[in-house]
Amino acid sequence: MKGVKIISTGYYIPEKILTNQDLEKMVDTSDEWITTRTGIKERRIADEKDAVSDLAIKAARKAIEKSGIPKEKIDLIINGTFTPDYPLPASACLVGEKLGIKNVQMFDLSAACSGFIYSLSVAYSMIKTGLSNYALVIGSEKLSAVTDWQDRNTCVLFGDGAGCAILGASHEEHFLSFSCGADGSYRELLYIPAGGSLNPATEETVKNRLHFVKMEGNKTFKVAVSKMAEVARGAMKKAGISSEDIKLVIPHQANIRIIEALARFLNVPMEKVFVNIDKIGNCSAATVPVALAQADEKGLLKKDDIVLLVAFGGGFTWAGAVIKW
Ligand code: ACO
Repeated sequence: MKGVKIISTGYYIPEKILTNQDLEKMVDTSDEWITTRTGIKERRIADEKDAVSDLAIKAARKAIEKSGIPKEKIDLIINGTFTPDYPLPASACLVGEKLGIKNVQMFDLSAACSGFIYSLSVAYSMIKTGLSNYALVIGSEKLSAVTDWQDRNTCVLFGDGAGCAILGASHEEHFLSFSCGADGSYRELLYIPAGGSLNPATEETVKNRLHFVKMEGNKTFKVAVSKMAEVARGAMKKAGISSEDIKLVIPHQANIRIIEALARFLNVPMEKVFVNIDKIGNCSAATVPVALAQADEKGLLKKDDIVLLVAFGGGFTWAGAVIKW
C-alpha cells in the first residue's frame, strides 16, 4: 500500500503584537505573573476584518506555492478550528472559495487544540483509502474573537494564527503513527457556554459574557500534563520508536510548564523541543501547524528525521503523531 507524506507547510501570524505590558493596562495582571506561570511574553491579534478563513488562506497560499502542486489538484480541505467564520457554513468551504477551489470535499473539524493532528489523521486515512489525492490540512484560529478581554484567567493566554500542510501519496510511508483520544466528561473545564444549540444566543447570554472561552486553568493543567505524556508515549509505542530516535518534538503551546513536564517525562532535552509560546501564545488548533511550518522554514527538519507532534485541548481532546520527515 502506498504511503502518505507532507509535501509542504505554510503559516501566517498577524502583524499586530499584544504584549504582556499591554495586558497590564487592560486587566489586573503583570508581565512577571504571565511570564513565570505561562512562558508567554506576547501574542498576535488578527485584524478585525479578518475571519478564520482569511488567516487560513494566507497560510495556505504559501504552502501551495511551496508544494508546486497546482491548486486544481487539491481535492480535500480540512480546517481544524473552533472559531469558524460562521457556525454555518464550514470555514473550510470559504477557504476553498477564496483559493478558487470548488467541487471537492471541504469541512471543518472541531477538536480544539488537537484539531490539526486530528485533521492530519483524517486526511491521512482518506489518502490511504483513495478518497483523496492531495489534501490541504489547516489549523486556523481567531481566538481574539472568543476571548473575554475582561477575564485575566484566560485573556493573557490566547493568540491568533494559521498553519497548514499539504499531504499527498508517496512511495514510502512518512506517517508512522497516530494516537488520538477524548473525554467529554471534562467539557465544562474548558468551553464556550452559549451560542450553540444548548444555549442559543439571547440578550441574557450576551450580558453574562457566555459567548467567551471559560477555563478552569488549574484543573485543566493537571489533566493536560498527564494526557500529553500519555498520548506522546502511545504514539511513540505505535511507531516503534524511543526518545533517542526523536529529532524534534512539536508540542501544543498552552504553557511552558506543560511543555517542560512533557520533555522531562519523555527524557528529551529541551533543545529538541520546539518552543514559540513566548512569541505567539496559545493559538489552539493553529499552534502545532504554525510551529511545524516554522521548524520547516528554519531548516530544522531534514529528510528521515523523526518528528513527534503532541496536543491537548478542549473536549478534552488529545492527539499525538509520529512523522518521518
Ligand atoms: N494575572 C495575575 N494573576 C492571575 C492571572 C493573571 N493573568 N490569572 C489568574 N491569576 C491568579 C488566580 O486568580 C489565582 O489567584 P488566587 O490564588 O488568589 O485565587 C492565582 O493567580 C493562581 O491561579 P491558578 O489558576 O491556580 O494558576 P496556574 O498556576 O494554574 O496558572 C494557567 C493558570 C496559566 C491558566 C494554567 O493553569 C494553565 O496553563 N492551564 C492549562 C491550560 C491548557 O492546557 N489548556 C488546554 C488547551 S487550550 C484550548 O483547548 C483552547
